[in-house]
Amino acid sequence: MRILLTGKNGQVGSELNKILSQFGEVIATGRKEMNLADPSQIRRVVQQIKPKLIINAGAYTSVDKAESDQELAKAVNWIAPKILADEAKNNDALLIHYSTDYSYNGEMSHRPYLESDPPSPNSVYGQTKLQGDQAIGESGASHLIFRTGWVYSKTGNSFLGTILKLAKEKNELRVVNDQTGTPTWCRSIAEATCKSIKNLLKKRDGSLSKAVASISGVYHMTCQGETNWHRFAQAILELSCPDQMPKLLAISTKEYPTPAIRPTYSVLSNTKLQKYFGIELPDWEYALKQCLSDTHDSIIT
Ligand SMILES: NC(=O)c1ccc[n+]([C@@H]2O[C@H](COP(=O)([O-])OP(=O)(O)OC[C@H]3O[C@@H](n4cnc5c(N)ncnc54)[C@H](OP(=O)(O)O)[C@@H]3O)[C@@H](O)[C@H]2O)c1
Repeated sequence: MRILLTGKNGQVGSELNKILSQFGEVIATGRKEMNLADPSQIRRVVQQIKPKLIINAGAYTSVDKAESDQELAKAVNWIAPKILADEAKNNDALLIHYSTDYSYNGEMSHRPYLESDPPSPNSVYGQTKLQGDQAIGESGASHLIFRTGWVYSKTGNSFLGTILKLAKEKNELRVVNDQTGTPTWCRSIAEATCKSIKNLLKKRDGSLSKAVASISGVYHMTCQGETNWHRFAQAILELSCPDQMPKLLAISTKEYPTPAIRPTYSVLSNTKLQKYFGIELPDWEYALKQCLSDTHDSIIT
């Protein structure tokens, strides 16, 4: 099977690029090989490669910058997935795509979000990502949209990396404690994606795209449990520099205004993923320990 991967240098994309070859020939692309803001280049590359599986891990992920860079966010997060879906449909391919917990407005007060809850993003990033999800849904292509949140990696540009860097530079850190979500290690997303492909390949009778046709849709895919950014920072510091921890102060979102409004609550229920694919990601604290110890053992059950 020929597989086209986008976003090969990103957090999720780089993890996928390490493990996807078990399924076939992987053509991994970054901005240089296929600019997701260039519709004609996307069509040309997909038509040349003729993949049976497209995994779109590329996205415009700068949440605050997107507020003033709407056209580019729209091109990469909305138009590019739409074109990939059209091409997937034309080529009888399966499209796997990633969505965000910032699709929800955060007003849920009594339980984690379900896929059936109406999305209502607060930010340009969330809005453009949701438009991408909807365009894929309307395309008629076989698709899986894995909606995740608070993605981190040890080396990439993420909250974890920022806290590790600031811990070396500052004696005191101020982190918000009134936004609740679930930190999710990029490697667990890549592994869960591969497990879903494996499950489909076992069951399929015909092409991968046909195996997914009747179950196409959005699936929440995050680690288990919930926390806030302050407690997440506390856990990172306790695990990485217990003897030299900077002072960690809890502040409110009001005290740390940002261009984009983020949901105060974006915990996602993963029961649909469990039900259809039998996949469960680990508890967020366990995954964080594994990430910081840089283990290479699989952590997906
Ligand atoms: N990060 C999070 O907290 C988070 C939360 C929820 C959902 N998600 C979703 O999860 C998926 C993976 O996110 P991630 O954290 O792995 O993102 P990431 O680390 O920011 O990687 C995104 C990749 O997309 C590439 N990209 C951006 N614009 C491009 C363009 N015009 N042409 C080609 N490539 C382009 C980037 O390339 P460069 O390296 O060249 O910039 C980068 O490698 C995305 O769909 C994202 O929306 C992420």
